[in-house]
Order: sequence, then structure tokens, then C-alpha cells
Amino acid sequence: MSIVIVGTGYVGLTTGLVLGYLGHRVVCVDKDTAIIDKLERGISTIYEPGLEELLKNNGNVVIFTDNMLGFLPEADIVIIAVGTPSKSNGDTDLSFVEAVAREIGQALDPVCPPLIVNKSTVPIGTARRVETVIREELERRNVECNFNVASNPEFLREGAALHDTLYPDRIVVGADDVQALNLLRQMYAPILEQTFTPPQEVPRPEGYNLPALVTTSPTSAELIKYTANAFLAMKISFINEFAALAEKVGADINEVAKGIGLDKRIGPGFLKAGAGWGGSCFPKDVRSILFTGSQYNCELQLVQASLEVNWRQRMKVIEKLQQTLKVIRGSTIGILGLAFKQNTDDIRESPALDVIRELLDMGARVKVYDPVAMNKYRQTYPDQNITYCESAAGAAKESDALVVLTEWDEFRHLPWADLGTSMKTKIIIDGRNILNREELMSNGFTYSGIGR
Ligand SMILES: NC(=O)c1ccc[n+]([C@@H]2O[C@H](COP(=O)([O-])OP(=O)(O)OC[C@H]3O[C@@H](n4cnc5c(N)ncnc54)[C@H](O)[C@@H]3O)[C@@H](O)[C@H]2O)c1
Repeated sequence: MSIVIVGTGYVGLTTGLVLGYLGHRVVCVDKDTAIIDKLERGISTIYEPGLEELLKNNGNVVIFTDNMLGFLPEADIVIIAVGTPSKSNGDTDLSFVEAVAREIGQALDPVCPPLIVNKSTVPIGTARRVETVIREELERRNVECNFNVASNPEFLREGAALHDTLYPDRIVVGADDVQALNLLRQMYAPILEQTFTPPQEVPRPEGYNLPALVTTSPTSAELIKYTANAFLAMKISFINEFAALAEKVGADINEVAKGIGLDKRIGPGFLKAGAGWGGSCFPKDVRSILFTGSQYNCELQLVQASLEVNWRQRMKVIEKLQQTLKVIRGSTIGILGLAFKQNTDDIRESPALDVIRELLDMGARVKVYDPVAMNKYRQTYPDQNITYCESAAGAAKESDALVVLTEWDEFRHLPWADLGTSMKTKIIIDGRNILNREELMSNGFTYSGIGR
């Protein structure tokens, strides 16, 4: 099939390369010419395990361009995968989605229109809104045309994006039209039936079951995405709430999480206590569904509470520094980890961002180290007065305390004895509960985790 994907970020690039790998003809479009220029040269614009290899072996199956117009007449499907950031009131900014819809409407071939697919995470009614915007443009051109808009939310996790795209738990397709449904079923057939040879760098997991195709109305598909993210965010906030209680009563939240996670009704995922959730999805999606709830006079109390608990977790890190170090003004704090989670360079709404801002406001000097996210952080916050270090040892040197904010594997195995000797005071706040408390304490550190 011939597929145009508009928006070549974490979702668009992964989807495009995977669909190309599966044998479709794919055109990845982005208005950012710097992104297109790099991708054309085989350089990945995001850090995502396995992606660069897939890009290098692409063999020009996937074309990268900043102008979709020439490719629209050929397309069977156009997938919209542009950003949907938050507005200040929590509502979703749909301007990027609408701009793409308008562009499609201005050029759509009325004889053989492609299926339009919303893959971006978008509020209820957006499939309909996209259709309206395209129709407005067709009317302006005085053109009549029957086309369909389907909703196909994306569930990939950054850091495991290729894996999740090739081996999903389910694929959700929301469409009112059978033909639209069939077209998407056909596009996903190699994944639904697992007929492809797995790429070397992303093997098929042992015991993997064929994914379910969940077909729904567009509205249900839109709501499924928000419900999933709100639930996962709530699960993390839930364990964080109990982490606070575990600290008070002298329990270890890691043990508690293990004890409840083995219950099949609960499951072990998303039960890691720490500095809270961040990233490009949970925060904005939680705010967006709260906004939708308020529009319909339907208060989502659990979701609201999850957001509040999450902010409390950020501040918990600062409180712990105050408890151990006492005075923050004038102290030097080393931060280990800027990315919102491991295996990604995505720093959007990461815990590190809030903690660093707070520390700078309080008059601390901040040194940071992250294995992959430092360039992105530097480019995004060029005015922040922080010191970038080449290694964890650099961040530890002369610091009064170290704070772990991303669960990078590298941080689990640091030479703590050496790091400790170079610090002014051996204080460590383990904001991800990934370190070996006993090892640190035996090396003379004052250790403080979350809920343990
Ligand atoms: N990142 C994730 O893990 C993830 C997972 C599931 C769903 N989503 C959703 O998918 C959508 C995309 O997320 P992302 O993380 O890939 O975003 P991103 O910011 O990484 O990429 C979006 C891209 O769209 C491009 N773009 C914007 N307007 C354009 C236009 N008019 N024409 C062409 N390109 C345009 C931007 O230049 C950018 O490169 C969002 O709605 C997000 O909520 C993201």
C-alpha cells in the first residue's frame, strides 16, 4: 500500500520505518526541514533503540520530504502523527492537526481520495473535526468528494517504540465505515498475522500472541487512548501515594509493589515508586481528559488526584534534600538523568526539569549528567545556568548531594566508593529506587529512596 505519514517525530518516524519494513511504500512528511535533511542522510533525529539501524537499512523504501502534496494522489492512506500539545487551560492544541487537515483538503484528489487516519492523541470529536476542516477546503475548491476519517490511536512506549509497533498488545481502529476498517486491517495485516521476518535488532518476544484488532467507533477509539494513559498515570500515582505511607510505617514500597504486582488482577507494570511520571504523553493527556471531563460536567476525581500526587512526588525529592542536606542555597547538587525515563532522549515534562528549576530557584548550583539527553536539554533550555558533565563521576565531583532522576541502567552499576570520595558530602537521593541501598550505606552514603 502507499502510505503518507505527516509528522516525523517519535510516532511518525517509528510507524513509517516499520510500515516500510513490512513492505508498504511510505512517505514520511515533516515541516521541519532540518529533520528531513538529517533523515535523508540516514541520521536518526531521535534516540530510540534499533531505529538508526532500521533507518540505515531502509534502502530508500521510506521517502522523507517536507512537502506532501506531490505524494497525495498516490496515497491509499494518510496518517496524521503531528504533536498535540497542551494549552495553558489543559485543553489540547489541535492547531497542528488542523493545519495538516487543511493542507490535505486543499490537495485531495476527489476521484480517488485516501483514507485519513488520526494517529495523534486527540480529544473526543477530532476525527469529526478533521473531516469538517477537509470539507471546508473542498467546498472552497468547489469539489465534491466522499472520503473517510478513522481514528487509530498509538500506544507505543518511547524507549521500546519499535518493539511495541511490531509486537503490540492490540491495535485499535475507530471507524464508522467498513471500507476504512478493511483498509487499516490490510495495512496492519503483517503485524496482525506476524508474517514478517523480525528485524535483527528487534526480535519477536518468545511466547508472543497475535495482537487483537479492536474495532470501535471513532469516539470510543479516541477515549480508549486517554483512558489507557489516565489509568497508567493513576497506577504510578497510586503506588507513590502508598510510598509515602510506607515511609511513615517503616515498610519498603518495592516489597509492597512486588507483593501486589504478582496478583494477576493488578499486574506488576507501572508500580515503580519514584519521582513521578513525565514525558510527552501522560502529563498532557491527563490534563486533556480532565479538561474534557470539565466540559461535560463530569469530574474525573481519581485522575485529578493522580496529577496532584505526581506533583507531590517531584517536591518529595526536594524535601528529602532538605531533610538530609538541610541547606540547599549555595549547595552543589549533582543530577543523574534528564530524560523522563530510560532509553529515550525525550525530556518533555521530565521530573528532572521540575527538580532542577526548583533547585535553581532555591539558590543551588546544579551539575547534570545524562547518557543521551544532554544535547536536547541544552538546546531546549539554553538559558538555564547548569553545568553539563561528561559522566556520572563528573556530576558527583565536589557535589553536596547526588539525585537520581532517570532509571538508566548505567546508574545501577556506578563505582560508588570512588564517586563518594570525590563528593563534599556523601548524600544520595534515589528518586527512582534503582540503587542498592546496602552497598551505598556500606560505602558511607546517607541514602534516601522513595517509600523505603
Ligand atoms: N511520543 C510518544 O511516546 C507517543 C505515544 C503515543 C502517542 N503519541 C501521540 O502522537 C502524536 C505525535 O507525538 P510525537 O511524540 O511523535 O511528537 P513529536 O513532537 O516528536 O513529532 C511531531 C512532528 O510533527 C511535525 N509537524 C507538526 N506540524 C506539521 C505539519 N503541519 N506538517 C508536517 N509535520 C508537522 C513536527 O515538526 C514534529 O517533528 C501526539 O499526539 C502524541 O500525543 C505519542
